[in-house]
Amino acid sequence: MQNVRGVTIETLYSASQIADRNTELAKAIFESRYQNLLVVAVLKGSFVFAADLIRAMHKTGLSPEMEFISVSSYGGGTTAGALRLLRDIDTDPQERDILLIDDILESGRTLAFIKERLISRGAHRVEIAVLLDKPGKRRAEIRADHVGFTCPDHFVVGYGMDKGHAFRELPFVGIVKDQ
Ligand code: IMP
Ligand code: MG
Repeated sequence: MQNVRGVTIETLYSASQIADRNTELAKAIFESRYQNLLVVAVLKGSFVFAADLIRAMHKTGLSPEMEFISVSSYGGGTTAGALRLLRDIDTDPQERDILLIDDILESGRTLAFIKERLISRGAHRVEIAVLLDKPGKRRAEIRADHVGFTCPDHFVVGYGMDKGHAFRELPFVGIVKDQ
């Protein structure tokens, strides 16, 4: 338990649990034998996870290129509203092996939208790494290839993830207890 901004946050995954899991994920990514790998982090929530994961990947001997993409959803993740591309990658995805990194796979609409877009632009192989999978809320037909933790249906913050732009700095993943 921690008090941040007058709010009680209960630790769900500690910094050391996350670090250990990142090492395992990096190993699995290495063993996936991606060719000429382009890593694409989905902003904003994945920025801390992506920063740690690419450095764990470096320790396995991988040397990917790195890009960023940003998508906004109207009406939240559970409605069928349109998704809009806010920032595209600068690299041509044609014939590339791409690893998408995101914080949470929830409805799946965000990652399905980005994955389909990269495939339609000619990417050779598009796979997904997420810190957290919340399978209970899936709407789109999509699965992650690399999952840090399968997460209960709580709203979580920290390690890059926010509530109203706050709590991204927390080094652990936590659940907001009192509203
Ligand atoms: P979806 O898979 O299209 O529903 O989008 C999942 C995105 O919603 C994640 O990348 C987060 O940005 C956001 N999100 C979902 N659940 C949470 C949460 O518990 N805390 C913070 N952000 C969340
Ligand atoms: Mg996100």
